[in-house]
Amino acid sequence: MPASNNKPHSNGSVTLVGAGPGDPELLTLRAVRALQEADVILIDNLVAPAILDFARREARKMMVGKTGYGPSCRQDEINAMMISLAKSGKRVVRLKGGDPMIFGRAGEEIAACQAAGIPIEVVPGITSAQGAASRLGVSLTQRELARRVQYITAHGANGRLPADIDWRSVADPSTTTVVYMPKRTLAELAATALAQGLNPETPAIAVASATRPDEQVISATIATIAAQLADAAPDGPVIVMIGHALGAAQSQVSERPIAKPNLAS
Ligand SMILES: C[S@@+](CC[C@H](N)C(=O)[O-])C[C@H]1O[C@@H](n2cnc3c(N)ncnc32)[C@H](O)[C@@H]1O
Repeated sequence: MPASNNKPHSNGSVTLVGAGPGDPELLTLRAVRALQEADVILIDNLVAPAILDFARREARKMMVGKTGYGPSCRQDEINAMMISLAKSGKRVVRLKGGDPMIFGRAGEEIAACQAAGIPIEVVPGITSAQGAASRLGVSLTQRELARRVQYITAHGANGRLPADIDWRSVADPSTTTVVYMPKRTLAELAATALAQGLNPETPAIAVASATRPDEQVISATIATIAAQLADAAPDGPVIVMIGHALGAAQSQVSERPIAKPNLAS
């Protein structure tokens, strides 16, 4: 951990809490405890509203979400808010969708707290890839079909497909690739993967709003996924999983839907 120049603040603290993909039953016990102890909760826009039922009613709840597409709090503003609240003695929970350590800019928030001498804890959450895989009933590392699983983002800092994706690994037939933030750039991503030699018949599945009541599954191939996702145009967050391990899920999607827990209750 980087050394801090500032004195620690005895009362206030920051806890980065993973809210998971949506279903509140996927929260960890530690996450629930942190929510119940928080004075202030700074909430990302991907956090399912039902998660906040676990917070104290008196806790101050502030939306600070970054959509990536529209107006939102800047990261430095969020860091400053988090630090100033903790310095004033508040127990701050920074509530993030999925796992804070996966495409969640946790590193910047941890570094900012450490530099300010604020005690910080991280409570992991179930990342959306794991939530989606569980809903599909598919192992992302299915023996004989996948030797490796990788998480990539399709949304660089400039909003475009990142230029430095390792395309050889995406085109590797024994890899399962999970694409976070695919909505804007999926067509370009798929075209590039095909140009790099990925078999056009490779299964590709989009899961929108994984583990939530409005979950939607779009089952396709790498050659057709972008058009099918564009047609379906789901409102919620989407993750795309590519690879032969997903083939098992495709037969289940068409023949035997996975039993869903009663999310409405
Ligand atoms: C900024 S990243 C945050 C990822 C998050 N930290 C995690 O571990 O899932 C946002 C992206 O996560 C994915 N995502 C988050 N929640 C999701 C859900 N319930 N269903 C599908 N994808 C989801 C989408 O790809 C979305 O664009």
